[in-house]
Amino acid sequence: MAGDYDLVVVANRLPVDRVEEADGTTSWRRSPGGLVTALEPVMQREDGAWIGWAGTHGEPPEPFDAVGVRCVPVGLSADEVEDYYEGFSNGTLWPLYHDVIVAPTYHRRWWEAYVRVNERFAQAAAEQAAEGATVWVQDYQLQLVPRMLRRRRPDLRIGFFNHIPFPPFEIFAQLPWRGAILDGLLGADLVGFQRPADASNFLRACRRAIALPARQSLVRLPDEGGRQVRAASFPISIDAAALDEMARREDIQERAREIRRDLGDPQYVLLGVDRLDYTKGILHRLKAFEELLSDGRIQVGEAALVQVATPSRERVEQYVQLRQDVEVTVGRINGTYAEIGKTPVQYLHHSYGREEMAALFLAADVMLVTSLRDGMNLVAKEYVASRYDERGALVLSEFTGAADELGQAIMVNPHDIDGLKDAVVRALHMSPREAARRMRAMRRRVREHDVQRWAATFLEALERPGAENTEIDLT
Ligand code: ADP
Ligand code: F6P
Repeated sequence: MAGDYDLVVVANRLPVDRVEEADGTTSWRRSPGGLVTALEPVMQREDGAWIGWAGTHGEPPEPFDAVGVRCVPVGLSADEVEDYYEGFSNGTLWPLYHDVIVAPTYHRRWWEAYVRVNERFAQAAAEQAAEGATVWVQDYQLQLVPRMLRRRRPDLRIGFFNHIPFPPFEIFAQLPWRGAILDGLLGADLVGFQRPADASNFLRACRRAIALPARQSLVRLPDEGGRQVRAASFPISIDAAALDEMARREDIQERAREIRRDLGDPQYVLLGVDRLDYTKGILHRLKAFEELLSDGRIQVGEAALVQVATPSRERVEQYVQLRQDVEVTVGRINGTYAEIGKTPVQYLHHSYGREEMAALFLAADVMLVTSLRDGMNLVAKEYVASRYDERGALVLSEFTGAADELGQAIMVNPHDIDGLKDAVVRALHMSPREAARRMRAMRRRVREHDVQRWAATFLEALERPGAENTEIDLT
């Protein structure tokens, strides 16, 4: 039976997470990560439904409205959180799709949970979507949903967008269930990726792993009467105008000044903002900063590094290890170099509201984005969107999707610690004139290619079956 919604988004997470407080009451908190940052403003303008997990195990709550979006929860049991979310999604696919920075683990039990949970999301989407509706499935946790949904509801138009990289075939080939994953994705009419390289990795995987004819951006499915699936890049973005507007507010500027004062008014503030994830290169960044202090190229009190790291996937082994490593490294740097009233690294293992983030961006002379691999990295775009004053410098890893668009950033290979140190020093000493020129160009790009344009471009492409080249212009 068809549902009521002409547009349904299906994502692992809802825009809000249910939090169980110590006194037994429940409250809602904004979910972490770039997917929610991007999709929330899009869905606030659409009259659609967002299907997702509420972040805790057990019976799902009834559908509800939050942050201006209709939310339809899908429930996960405690075992499914462990096997589908922490296991297959974040112990198998996440490292596999991020250049195997840590070794992926392959467990058949995790895979079985992934299939079962994907069926549940597909069923929920089939129940909510109106006749002929558009269903937009999001990210690596739900790659089987397009096929499962098409079987249930062939009347739907189905899009899929992968927020993280899609790996080269030589890496993807490790996955014991690679054929099933590709078949799952090919249930969609349009499969979107962050970068052209991700789309071509996917097309090549279709040719190599399941011998399908893939030409330019189209895969043909002979067993489905020659149905064609398009694969193309649609680099995701942010609500740049909203952030620009927020950063211009007097209270946000005052908070930015206050942050600098609380840091002891150093000459330079450096900033890192990430989920606490091994893909983000946080340890590489800390190492470069530590060596700059030990080389005497920067002085304690002259520069302070603020590292904000949102807790993430806290029960997954590699994340537990990363947290320990970061804490030990920060402790060592501060133990070695701090003086009374001068702390070189401020490490904040918290999540902050949007206004505090905007103030932090405004307070920072240098933004450090040093991911070892990152689908896009919205933090880089947020920094640029906040700097209406055209000040500040962005140090950006070449291994982010954002590097394709923000060519005026100071590009780094985060594995090259000497190169990273030089880039930081260059950013600190950049003339205001050069900084403004670079920032202006990056701001133009982010303003013109905001998240509304991303969504509109994807959804338009989904409405135009058969068109060949949907890659958006990256100039
Ligand atoms: P990912 O999706 O891998 O987490 P992105 O950089 O694309 O990485 O997106 C992260 C999003 O989460 C951004 O919108 C960023 O502002 C937000 N974020 C990251 N850390 C924090 C934090 N400590 N508090 C609040 N928001 C955060
Ligand atoms: O885009 C990357 C992403 O994994 C999203 O899918 C996810 O919502 C976000 O980062 C945060 O991760 P998690 O949902 O595992 O906390």
